[in-house]
Amino acid sequence: MTVTTAIIPAAGWGTRMLPASFSVPKELLPVFDRPSIEWVVAEAVAAGIERIVLISGRGKSGLMDHFDRHPHLESILTKSAKDEAAAEIVKRSKSCQFIEVRQGDARGLGHAVLCGELGFNQDRVAVLLPDDLYFGSPSALSELITLSDSAPEKGVIGLLEVAPEQSRKYGMVGGVWRDRQMQIDTLVEKPEPENAPSNFAITGRYVLPRQLFDLLRNQGSGALGEIQLTDALQTLAANKGMLGMVPSAKRYDAGDAEGLLIASLRCALDHGSDSLRARVQAELQQ
Ligand code: UTP
Repeated sequence: MTVTTAIIPAAGWGTRMLPASFSVPKELLPVFDRPSIEWVVAEAVAAGIERIVLISGRGKSGLMDHFDRHPHLESILTKSAKDEAAAEIVKRSKSCQFIEVRQGDARGLGHAVLCGELGFNQDRVAVLLPDDLYFGSPSALSELITLSDSAPEKGVIGLLEVAPEQSRKYGMVGGVWRDRQMQIDTLVEKPEPENAPSNFAITGRYVLPRQLFDLLRNQGSGALGEIQLTDALQTLAANKGMLGMVPSAKRYDAGDAEGLLIASLRCALDHGSDSLRARVQAELQQ
């Protein structure tokens, strides 16, 4: 059976997005014409995901509201001859089954992923970090699932080649390439360039075997009292249980204001009307 459930951890503080994220969850800030999280959900749905377990926290109930029905607004839109906008709300709410799990204490990404265990009963689950947006076809997650289908007992991570000096910003991996896939043997959190095992960084797309949840449960807290996902992934890698690949779709980091702006421009150019495209290009040339 293939992967049909995805966990989206969204309970973090979003400090890189302050002050924009002070009272609005950063995942609801728009990328072009819709909240950034809607692009992530669309990617998941395009990859065959049928159920999304959203890991949220205090002040983040707007995330579930966004994917809910809005009967009053729908009837106002219908009465104002905006049937298409009303239909869009219905379509969005039916695109997937949404389940919310509150993390309570933000005890790290590993802990957030572990909270999502409540929401699935399969051998594997996808994890999408909403800071990372992938635009393009095939959807990044669908390529990862295809690779995972060929080795379902292993974990799969989306990778990105970065300039050496950028290693300080990412989890970096090392391993052996065979065609488009890397058998990962090392993961290092934010190393100095001279200590990075390669130029390939971990991005926010994973397909994880159930075994990873046992590792997370048993590994206890690491740095800052947090349960680190990387530690559990390292254990899988040490047992030849981690693969990586660079998805064909292009990745944007929407986790800070600059990245969000660039992702918005990309979307406007790709999805906007011809006149919008011309306006953006003219504006950028001034
Ligand atoms: P980050 O470490 O990037 O944290 O989390 P953040 O809070 O989102 O952003 P900054 O760095 O403070 O600006 C990576 C992903 O893990 C989720 C976050 O919501 C984000 O999607 N996360 C992190 C949780 O869900 N719970 C946690 O305890 C920590």
